[in-house]
Amino acid sequence: MKQVSVGICGLGTVGSGTFKVLTRNAAIIAGRSGCNIQITRIASRTPRTDIDLGGVPFSTDVYDVVNDPAIDIVVEVIGGYDAAKELVLTAIKNGKHVVTANKALIAEHGTEIFAAAEKAGVIVAYEAGVAGGIPVIKAIREGLAGNRIDWIAGIMNGTGNFILTEMRAGREFAGVLEEAKALGYAEADPTFDVEGIDAAHKLTILASAGFGVPLQFNKAYTEGISKITPYDIAHAEQLGYRIKHLGIARRREEGIELRVHPTLVPQDHLIARVDGVLNAILVDGDAVGQTMYYGPGAGDEATGSAVVADIIDVARIVASGSSLRVPFLGFAPEAMENLPV
Ligand code: HSE
Repeated sequence: MKQVSVGICGLGTVGSGTFKVLTRNAAIIAGRSGCNIQITRIASRTPRTDIDLGGVPFSTDVYDVVNDPAIDIVVEVIGGYDAAKELVLTAIKNGKHVVTANKALIAEHGTEIFAAAEKAGVIVAYEAGVAGGIPVIKAIREGLAGNRIDWIAGIMNGTGNFILTEMRAGREFAGVLEEAKALGYAEADPTFDVEGIDAAHKLTILASAGFGVPLQFNKAYTEGISKITPYDIAHAEQLGYRIKHLGIARRREEGIELRVHPTLVPQDHLIARVDGVLNAILVDGDAVGQTMYYGPGAGDEATGSAVVADIIDVARIVASGSSLRVPFLGFAPEAMENLPV
């Protein structure tokens, strides 16, 4: 069985979840992938004494992973922009495939990163960046590959949905946000969650995968939930609606519309019933109609599940020795619709 070496950069919520899933399910993963996926090095600025790394070499310098010639796949789960971008571009330059959960990085610097990867002949996979454990990028790229996608809409930030759900039960905004932080759901900067920036990052990536348009985060209209009051929630309920924080991408004649904002959803709609840290994304395709993807949008092993799925995809390609061209955002640049937003 061919061995594929993985190095993990970052051992926070997603890094530790990835490590746990890869090690606990090693036998299942070997059976499914047909290769022996080994974690050969882990690096994180902050060591974790609460996780047994099982003898895997650990370092506090992520470049010990990125520059290790034995490593085939670099997993970037440090988050943030600049350091993560530098790390990913160096890994690509070193001929490594990259699996990342970093939606901010992909939404804002994806074009540059994918161009570098294309040039180096390596893959950058990012399923874990959108909706945590829900395989919605894979659904769009694979299951719905034969459809013209007309719109994508849903709850794509678990922290925001958790806050709105708990406020409906009478809790204060600030207290619920603190709990989301303690549970590892919130971003390092929680303004990204409550002001809709995180959802707009994810919507940007979904729109690019679904509509074949370039990543255009700066074109997304973004409004958060920080001004929603218990009074707003109660009145919406009285009128038969529920306030949900939605990301919506829609094909229009003049281009693709991208918007994130609080929305009144009829209480009997499936989306209105999605509570807590769960996400739910509806995708409308011309052939299939509406499909919905629902599940945990954040959390260590849930997001780790998506990282590991990408590792398996890339490992299969590495093991096959194929130089298969994998279009990064679900489209070939030459076939791109390139619609203005
Ligand atoms: N902070 C994000 C959320 C994490 O709450 O959805 C998962 O992307």
